[in-house]
Amino acid sequence: MNSEEGKQMVNYYSVGAEIDLGTPASGSAEAITLTIDGSPVTVPKGTSVMRAAAIAGTNIPRLCATEDLEPFGSCRLCLVEIEGRNGYPASCTTDVEPGMQVYTQTDHVAKLRRNVMELYISDHPLDCLTCPTNGNCELQDMAGAVGLREVRYGYEGSNHLDEPKDESAPYFTFDPSKCILCSRCVRACDEQQGTFALTIDGRGFDSQIVASQKEDFLSSECVSCGACVKACPTATLTEKSIIKFGQPDKATITTCAYCGVGCSFRAEMQGDQLIRMVPNRDGHANHGHACVKGRFAFGYATHPDRITTPLIRESIHDEWREVSWQEAIKFAATQLKKIQKEFGRKSIGGITSSRCTNEEVFVVQKFIRTAMGNNNVDTCARVCHSPTGYGLKTTLGESAGTQTFDSVMAADSIIIIGANPTDAHPVFASQMKRRLRQGASLIIADPRAIDLVDSPHVKADHHLQLRPGTNVALINALAHTIIDEGLEDKKFIEERCGPGAYEIWKNFIGEQRNSPEALAEVTGVPATEVRAAARLYANAGNGAIYYGLGVTEHSQGSTMVMGIANLAMLTGNLGRDGVGVNPLRGQNNVQGSCDMGSFPHELPGYRHLSDEVARAQFEAEWKVKLDSEPGYRIPNMFDAAIAGEFKGLYIQGEDIAQSDPDTQHVHAALSAMECVIVQDLFLNETAKFAHVFLPGSSFLEKDGTFTNAERRISPVRKVMEPKSGMAEWEITCALSTEMGYAMSYEHPRQIMEEIARLTPTFSGVSYEKIDALGSIQWPCNDQAPNGTPFMHVNEFVRGKGFFAPTPYVATDERSNSRYPLLLTTGRILSQYNVGSQTRRTENLQYHDEDRLEIHPADAELRGIVDGSWVGIKSRAGETVLRACITDRVQPGVIYTTFHHPESGANVVTTDNSDWATNCPEYKVTAVQAYPVSQPSQWQEMFKQFDQEQQELLAASRETVE
Ligand code: SF4
Ligand code: SF4
Ligand code: SF4
Ligand code: FES
Repeated sequence: MNSEEGKQMVNYYSVGAEIDLGTPASGSAEAITLTIDGSPVTVPKGTSVMRAAAIAGTNIPRLCATEDLEPFGSCRLCLVEIEGRNGYPASCTTDVEPGMQVYTQTDHVAKLRRNVMELYISDHPLDCLTCPTNGNCELQDMAGAVGLREVRYGYEGSNHLDEPKDESAPYFTFDPSKCILCSRCVRACDEQQGTFALTIDGRGFDSQIVASQKEDFLSSECVSCGACVKACPTATLTEKSIIKFGQPDKATITTCAYCGVGCSFRAEMQGDQLIRMVPNRDGHANHGHACVKGRFAFGYATHPDRITTPLIRESIHDEWREVSWQEAIKFAATQLKKIQKEFGRKSIGGITSSRCTNEEVFVVQKFIRTAMGNNNVDTCARVCHSPTGYGLKTTLGESAGTQTFDSVMAADSIIIIGANPTDAHPVFASQMKRRLRQGASLIIADPRAIDLVDSPHVKADHHLQLRPGTNVALINALAHTIIDEGLEDKKFIEERCGPGAYEIWKNFIGEQRNSPEALAEVTGVPATEVRAAARLYANAGNGAIYYGLGVTEHSQGSTMVMGIANLAMLTGNLGRDGVGVNPLRGQNNVQGSCDMGSFPHELPGYRHLSDEVARAQFEAEWKVKLDSEPGYRIPNMFDAAIAGEFKGLYIQGEDIAQSDPDTQHVHAALSAMECVIVQDLFLNETAKFAHVFLPGSSFLEKDGTFTNAERRISPVRKVMEPKSGMAEWEITCALSTEMGYAMSYEHPRQIMEEIARLTPTFSGVSYEKIDALGSIQWPCNDQAPNGTPFMHVNEFVRGKGFFAPTPYVATDERSNSRYPLLLTTGRILSQYNVGSQTRRTENLQYHDEDRLEIHPADAELRGIVDGSWVGIKSRAGETVLRACITDRVQPGVIYTTFHHPESGANVVTTDNSDWATNCPEYKVTAVQAYPVSQPSQWQEMFKQFDQEQQELLAASRETVE
């Protein structure tokens, strides 16, 4: 059995150490046969001798080589003899050749390797027994492998053994006394992460690894992705958790529960103690890479703030009462039934969570449609990517991105619109940066200078720094240029798109009002820049578009998504590798929560409630008559609550009191309800308005699946039991049963079987297949039994592509004399969404408050200085943030993140929303900004309410003790 076969046979979910074949695999289809130590072996052309030997079952000693990095050839431990060649070439940097005869273990190479090891060990502490990586150290292993028995050079000469440690980074330490200068860390930071934070400084004996300009890791450019730590073959770079607990003894493969990249990880454990999360080399979305959130920020799962016992209370000003699961479920069901009896069937509803698994979400929407008997179900995707669903379904026929992440490696020109991948989708950003360093061109459309505009070895060819709210004008100007200059892909349009709609659209887009020249005043982007960007994209072999919430969270969010799809169809950039329209999803399971039927008008698989065939199928399976009327969207629920018509809400893992716009309106709606049930990990902002708290589980306590932004369904596997004693799907089933609709499963596997029975795009999905393949991109059915990497290959899902007209309509949120600035919002790398998880980790060291970015000219005009308090006022409300003066934002635009509840960013955002989907217009709010010396009135109220609620929670715990 060769090692490649061995790799296949490792049990996917419970695995030992990763197998490392020394150098990356070659993609070549051409095979080459050589002999290694007398035995023939056949490998792809371009394979290194080291890898070929490993495949043949011989591990050549090595220190500077690893499968994750390009070979470097610095340590000289991997020397071999090759018949007919002079000297002793390094096997990591020597490619195989036909008929080559390699000898890996002659007396002479063995002696040379021992000499090399002697030199390393003569300047290395001999503290193996007390070293944190004892038992998992490549240097130690190699000393054993080469048979090192003595160090003839002694330990007395000059050495580095007293170099001080750098313990500044929150999650790992740097101990230079153990460094062997193999450069793996430097190369990991360059090649994998693309941050270029590390270098080897000095020469000869004085050489040392330094971060940035000889800074400590925390102050340097390092973004704590952990790639260098994983790459380091010694204890020099070591996780603090390893130093604290020791080496793990088992691992389970699971999927990160943070962003929509969906990185695969090995959760490495000692008993039920999670020691570390190591990115899985075989992960299809991340290929062994990670970011600071997934890699290190898992401490929230065991944080003392976790609530693990059910709580109930009559009023939100009462103390909580800790009760049994049985009592909590009975209390909740009784309240909901009472409300329905008094206010009608439609007076209650629920919200599903994009952080929960597909199986958990499916069960919640089923509970609402069956036990509650209405369709009042919505999801947090309402406030992020609902326009993606509408826009892509209208134009292409399917509500999802078209590609794999890997597809970016075949892109020649990349457009990023309204997304900030290095902060919000960091692992994909690293992959994209690799492609950009290889020479792909980059066009960024964003009101703010995101990192990718100008970062080490990556510079955007065009930064179209448009004014917030003018996306549609810009996309129309780009499309106009392509038509105007005859750059469209006529063949693709003729073969793949509906001719009638195209002619109408072409006439519309060709109008002078859509020209870059006419729209320059609206967008603020010079026409020459727009025309140059349009040419770059249209003339590229493969053009790929990536977009984020800066597209969707607008009053014309759906229009803009259609504009993006139009642009891709116009240039023939759909249906193959390297192209496509790719929404970057915010939370881990936004795609899945939408797929699972979380919208009030659609059953799972995006089948409209008015589709009688679909409804009948669900009715037969669920043995209940379904309401054919769509239910309330989240904003409708709030309005109906304030109107006294909507009284009960079941919220699965969402914090609407912080995440939804116009906070005061949301608080008023929650306060008006009689029964708010929150299922979550912590007393979040919404739970402070709740009457029932049902403790949820972290992803480490779950079995199920997440679906990432590529439509990739990945396994989530339990590494510890739910701390509350109940799985989240079991809680929902119990509540449903108590409400009168009996629901039960033995395992989430059965829920997926039901999903597959009811959802045509999932009909081929099963846990067995996910286990076998590692992950699956839907559609997965008879036509595509192993899934679908690229959508719309020969024809669009809707048949012919539809060019939807996209007239630009200015938002109501325009600057005026009262509100002269435009506020826009975004995310930061170290924090995640409302921050309830990442704020309970050491990531706080990177970002402990939301700051207000303001241009120097706007700051000076208002007498605002860096670090001072700034009041921001919109027509919805007022809050106070600390100023960060920067020219990342253009004059007239201010920017903040929204990870800390006390910031009140959503106190300021308004109820403006997308015309088609009601997705809030978070990205444009007209505001005034001015210096202040104290928090806003809302912030004072927030503080008081928070204190009251924390005391009520603490009192319940004291009562029990
Ligand atoms: S943690 Fe990541 S960013 Fe920081 S130095 Fe290591 S590889 Fe570079
Ligand atoms: S820190 Fe580790 S990976 Fe970097 S050069 Fe030193 S031993 Fe090699
Ligand atoms: S990129 Fe996203 S999925 Fe990957 S580790 Fe970071 S947060 Fe998790
Ligand atoms: S492993 Fe080949 S030179 Fe270091």
